[in-house]
Amino acid sequence: MSAIIGQDIKKAAHYLNSNDVVAIPTETVYGLAANALDINAVTKIFEVKNRPYFDPLIVHISALNEINKYAKTPHPELIKLAEAFWPGPLTILFDKKDVIPDLVTSGLSRVALRMPNHELTLQLLQNIDFPLAAPSANPFSYVSPTCAQHVHDQLGEKIPYILDGGACDIGLESSIVGMEGENLMIYRKGGLEIERIREIFKGKIIVNDNSSSSPAAPGMLKKHYSPNKIMLDYKDYNPMIHQFDNIGFLKFSEYEKNINSEQQIILSENANLSEAAQRLFGALRSLDKLDIDTIFIEFVPEIGLGLAINDRLKRTLTDH
Ligand code: TXA
Ligand code: MG
Repeated sequence: MSAIIGQDIKKAAHYLNSNDVVAIPTETVYGLAANALDINAVTKIFEVKNRPYFDPLIVHISALNEINKYAKTPHPELIKLAEAFWPGPLTILFDKKDVIPDLVTSGLSRVALRMPNHELTLQLLQNIDFPLAAPSANPFSYVSPTCAQHVHDQLGEKIPYILDGGACDIGLESSIVGMEGENLMIYRKGGLEIERIREIFKGKIIVNDNSSSSPAAPGMLKKHYSPNKIMLDYKDYNPMIHQFDNIGFLKFSEYEKNINSEQQIILSENANLSEAAQRLFGALRSLDKLDIDTIFIEFVPEIGLGLAINDRLKRTLTDH
């Protein structure tokens, strides 16, 4: 099998109705989607992605009124956030109803719901009569895909169809939130800036900076999003020590002077964090293809989307 890349919603719906797995575009990253209500379909996602069953999946919906189909007594603050930011890069944890299989939530009592902001995928969801479970469409622990070709490069032999919605607008996975008592917990920093969440949620916001190797929120593994190179912090780069090494750079806004430009990528010449986010995963993939042993990565300013960018960069590091 080699996946067809196309924009045919009917074809994508056909495969999904047959319990197959289809890659779908979203504004954050591409997802690997299947019928969230069918255990056989969901099992295929874990198999294609080589994902451990303890790492639960996000369920994608296309209308606010679907929350009540899958969630029990949703907290009013969470509804407010959904109303403010959906469709958009925000995933919300709700107490799940029984229609959501335990396989989807890895046995947890909450289900992660999100309404993605991508026209093709919203139309697709309206053409099928089930929600779509979808993790990012990359092999487990590798960099997330931000265009159809990224998906094809790694999973093209394992799925029948990739719905091509172009390059992802945001380029970082969604932010994940849920209530802990009356506080809002941010389980994953992502495409929706904390500053924006604060405009709507007036209570206490706690950011989960968990980076252990057995995380409380599964999926937040210490080593994740990672190319197959030695990944080091740019702060530890020393031109004297590394002068004969075969190295590359991922820089924020300025090239490293003493190294040729083919061995480095800058994320945004204008030091623009949205542009840096959009280009981040593609840049990591491009550097991973170069004939180099080591990549030095430079962290970006810790504001707005910079928090999520730095979180992903930190998780690429070797032995941190
Ligand atoms: O932007 C996104 O969120 C993309 C697109 C495709 O929607 N999806 C995505 O999925 O990034 P994935 O599987 O790569 O990351 C989902 C994260 C995982 O870390 C998982 O542990 C967490 O969401 N998650 C899902 N369901 C959960 C639950 N019930 N409780 C706690 N964490 C959950
Ligand atoms: Mg992922």
